[in-house]
Amino acid sequence: MDEMNKGWVCGKGKGAIPIESSLKMITSHINILPTGNETGVYFAVDLGGTNLRILRVTLNGGKWSTVEHREAIPMGVSSKEASAEELFDFIARACGELCRSVDADPMPVGFTFSFPYSQTSIKAGCLIEWTKGFETQGCVGKDPAALLQAALDRNEVPLVVEALCNDTVGTLMTNAYTKRSKYCRVGVILGTGTNAAYSDPSLDNLIINIEWGGFNKLPRRSQFDEAVDAGSPNVGKQFLEKMVSGFYLGELARLATVKQLETLGTAVPSILTESHAFDTAAISQLLENDRAALAQPPLSLLTEESRSVLLQVAELVMDRSAAVAAAALSAVVDKATIPSDSAICEVGIDGSLYTKGHEYKARLLKHLRLLHPAGCEIVLDFSEDGSGLGAALVAAAVAGGEKLQ
Ligand code: GLC
Repeated sequence: MDEMNKGWVCGKGKGAIPIESSLKMITSHINILPTGNETGVYFAVDLGGTNLRILRVTLNGGKWSTVEHREAIPMGVSSKEASAEELFDFIARACGELCRSVDADPMPVGFTFSFPYSQTSIKAGCLIEWTKGFETQGCVGKDPAALLQAALDRNEVPLVVEALCNDTVGTLMTNAYTKRSKYCRVGVILGTGTNAAYSDPSLDNLIINIEWGGFNKLPRRSQFDEAVDAGSPNVGKQFLEKMVSGFYLGELARLATVKQLETLGTAVPSILTESHAFDTAAISQLLENDRAALAQPPLSLLTEESRSVLLQVAELVMDRSAAVAAAALSAVVDKATIPSDSAICEVGIDGSLYTKGHEYKARLLKHLRLLHPAGCEIVLDFSEDGSGLGAALVAAAVAGGEKLQ
């Protein structure tokens, strides 16, 4: 709570710098939520950590349908050898796949850009730094909306960027749209990265992107957390994200397993010596005893003993992730609610770790019950497609949404 307050006061909504607070607390410039009555067709670009999605969204009074183009983001556009033009031309060309054949006139597009950027308006911002393994040159310090618009123009794609939002803001908006409830006050992503946004009752319900992945006041970090950090492109940053999110859990489990096997004096299979050989999907499949996955690499390359150690470690890594996420969420719920006003706080959640991580929702609820025994009831709503639909909803809400009460 203190770190959130410091982040807001010092950063003035533009993103606190690390010596002031490890939480950036960035204004989204939005204090309206969708009513659920929005209709119309909107395009959305969703650049997350792993996939790029282009969506043509038809909103229809609390329901929606989408036509989607999805591509994995190749290393060639996210590595430090890549340029901003290469990344944004890749996005523009994917947009062209979906909209050139359909519409000739320029159409509005909302851009979900899931990285830390300060926002000067609803459709302009400035990238503060990359996270989740991205290192593309020429983007930090630049406006992602302007970079996208230039690429769309270069590639003659008839789209105009009308809104820019973080995936957590989009997830909050999506939950409000589908539930039509004024108690939707928090949006959370638990995926390749992790973060939350909330509407602040003391700031006329302005929605704030916390960038909680940067939180660095964690009481205990292990030697494996330090090793994961040292091997990452953003050393010394995103400590909470590196303990919680999908990009890091497999690697944490691998490093701890190697250490345990060495301590036991047991041979370490070569697959366990390869950095990032196990992703979060692999350790979830191991925990689920998924026979098909166990028969294939990387899991099939383990010895019986190393598999048993990895299984035990994976359980601890997955559960600790949920415990840390629950602690962060518990603090955000307190910040988002006024005790006299609400007995309930509805949290929209999306992300691959939440949907596919082994028993992740149950783990999160277990830790929330321990950490937040009194006060308001926390309801976890799966906001399907929150990050993609969110950008379309931001554009629609700005055009005709209701002010939060
Ligand atoms: C990273 C990004 C943040 C995003 C989160 C989830 O933490 O910095 O902006 O919301 O990943 O995708």
